[in-house]
Amino acid sequence: MNEKKKIMNSSTIAVIGLSWGDEGKGKFVDYLAQKADCVVRYQGGSNAGHTVVIKNVKHKFQLLPSGALLEKEVIIANGVVVDPKVLLEEIKRIENLGKTINFKLSSTAHVIFPFHRILDGLEEESKGKYSAGTTKRGIGPTYSDKAARWGIRIFDLINPDLLKVKLEKLYNIKKSLINVFDPDWDTDLNLIYEEYKAYGEQLKPYVIDTAYYLNNAIDSGKKIVFEGAQGTLLGIDHGMYPYGTSSNANALGICAGTGISPKKISSIIGIIKAYTSRVGGGLFPTELNGEIAVKIRDQGHEYGTVTGRPRRVGWLDLFNIKYGIMINGIDNIIITLLDVLEGINPIKVCTDYKLNGEVLESWPIQSELIEKCEPIYKTYDGWKYKTPEEWSEIASQGYEFLPENMKIYTQAIQEELNTDIAMISIGPNRNDTIVLSEDFN
Ligand code: GDP
Ligand code: IMO
Ligand code: MG
Repeated sequence: MNEKKKIMNSSTIAVIGLSWGDEGKGKFVDYLAQKADCVVRYQGGSNAGHTVVIKNVKHKFQLLPSGALLEKEVIIANGVVVDPKVLLEEIKRIENLGKTINFKLSSTAHVIFPFHRILDGLEEESKGKYSAGTTKRGIGPTYSDKAARWGIRIFDLINPDLLKVKLEKLYNIKKSLINVFDPDWDTDLNLIYEEYKAYGEQLKPYVIDTAYYLNNAIDSGKKIVFEGAQGTLLGIDHGMYPYGTSSNANALGICAGTGISPKKISSIIGIIKAYTSRVGGGLFPTELNGEIAVKIRDQGHEYGTVTGRPRRVGWLDLFNIKYGIMINGIDNIIITLLDVLEGINPIKVCTDYKLNGEVLESWPIQSELIEKCEPIYKTYDGWKYKTPEEWSEIASQGYEFLPENMKIYTQAIQEELNTDIAMISIGPNRNDTIVLSEDFN
């Protein structure tokens, strides 16, 4: 019994974004997948944009877990909302690279239809100042239908008779809702049915009950990486509502999104950038405008992977990251994009917020309160420009060779968060990585 538990405890690792997404999850899921058997997506949908860079070639993922490039087993579990067209295109893209795809799709994941994408746009417009600036990929409306219990699941998609009955019902409901915003909207139900029936036929070979499959895999000692999408502050229950997404974009989402017990998740890694970025609407207390923002955006190529929108950028906010560490039960952290801050001096880091003259004890999750807060900063000396080749060279030499001020900066983050740093990232390539914890060697 004890022996079995020991195997379980060393076999599952989660990579969780601690801010508003785009922290570099794709790079590190790919990195950790090198020693894993399987990578699992458990929430979100094609709103995610994960970039993996191998030998300076960029690979972008929206739905398929980043382990696909390594030909690891990749699984989309029940908590994900699936746009079948995007998924099939991604499978094709991997196959066109000459890679074998080893993929499984949950029969209970929910399906995104064209009317979900349309509603996403219309709902956003009607929300005014409460709009989150969504990716318009139909994420919110599909999760709404799941909660309302008239959503269509992958099992329905691959069974044409079920699809016909359920789609007709859902289509009529959605049409009447869209017509509230746009009385002239209409589309041919049969065309949607035929298109989706064809997607179902193509996806059928991949479909299984992933909860049974994953539990068996863990119990037999397989090593699994859970790939978070979005970030903790975008989460539906514990993020900055309503300016976020519609799933639990944190470690708490893993269990509901896969059917795996919390007892079986052995290590939870939080990933943060050396600064902060946010794409879309909502408050951003440490947001920068002007010259420094332009510099960080340009040096970090901070443009949305899915929508191409310029990302908003700001100083690192350790106060909201401490909240994320608590919510997720983070074991250790990865700091990415440190190279991007080159040439910026001084660098500021927010450690606390003040509200009505008082320093707060806890991060005030309500937007209406955060709006009134003033960030408190500490200031650090920066480091000089280097070429990407020089950063890669430093990564191959190790921690001791980092610029002195970068070491001071990362040490200060570790102390403020009271959480060990597992890895440091100074470039987009897999090897532009310095491993500090023996567990990851
Ligand atoms: P994700 O959504 O968390 O997977 O992150 P994204 O892929 O959307 O955005 C992170 C971006 O930063 C990608 O373009 C990565 O290739 C890149 N990246 C990751 N780590 C580093 C790093 O340490 N330095 C630099 N310069 N780029 C990085
Ligand atoms: P990855 O996985 C950054 C943001 C959108 C918007 C809000 C809701 O690449 O980190 P949605 O389309 O989910 O209803 O939009 O969430 N958002 C992201 N921001 N990275 C992402 O994913 C995001 N996915 C959604 O910009 O503010
Ligand atoms: Mg991203």
